Amino acid sequence: MEIIIDGKKCEAQYGEYLLDIARKNGIHIPTLCHSDALPGQATCRLCIVEVVEGSRRRVVTSCVFPVTREVEVFTNSEKIRRMRKNIIRLLSARAPKNEFIQKLREEYGLLQETRFAVDEKENCILCGLCVRACEEMGIFAISTVNRGIEKKVSTPFDEASDVCIGCGACAFVCPTRAINIMDENGVRHLWNKEFQLVKCQKCGEYFTTREHQEYMKQKFGEDNNYTLCEKCRKKAAGEKMAECYRI
Ligand code: SF4
Ligand code: FES
Repeated sequence: MEIIIDGKKCEAQYGEYLLDIARKNGIHIPTLCHSDALPGQATCRLCIVEVVEGSRRRVVTSCVFPVTREVEVFTNSEKIRRMRKNIIRLLSARAPKNEFIQKLREEYGLLQETRFAVDEKENCILCGLCVRACEEMGIFAISTVNRGIEKKVSTPFDEASDVCIGCGACAFVCPTRAINIMDENGVRHLWNKEFQLVKCQKCGEYFTTREHQEYMKQKFGEDNNYTLCEKCRKKAAGEKMAECYRI
């Protein structure tokens, strides 16, 4: 089917999400909590757009809005810009000095507003992606704790978690780089815990923690090359495939 986004005709599959259709067609919609690896989070609300169907006009969250009919979409109408500015103001009150929020504020012509600021050092917008990434790994080391302005993501009682394997999935998926992860002299520091890093058997670079490596071996078996970093693993897979074609 065909839909129109900001005046441009765009091909869409039934059930495809609006954000994906816009991206495929080079139309920018700002996002924070959307991750291609973990879609459907829909907590930041930055990706709102206006959808028009006949005489019906409504504001929807494009990252979770499936297109099922031919509609017209406005990603940057006056109403959307006004609403998005308010969303950015709220995000800004939560994480005022965060570089990604500051960029958004500049893009939308918003001055630094500190009147609602909770904590100048805060970078987390409580999108929940990190908690979900940890759950998807099957680890459950972090969760949101406390309520109201005290709400945050942490390990139980802010202590070094027994179950955390230091894989860093939480930090890699975080849209505002709010999670402190530091690799230094073969040691990873994450969530008040230290992990021994292991080197790739091929290139010799540190690439993950011992606990993560062990976990992956247990879960997927010894023969899955978990002694190699991602780059070397891909290279090895490519070489194996090339070998198969030669035969
Ligand atoms: S730490 Fe990052 S990923 Fe986790 S809730 Fe906060 S902003 Fe989202
Ligand atoms: S990107 Fe859609 S709600 Fe955050």
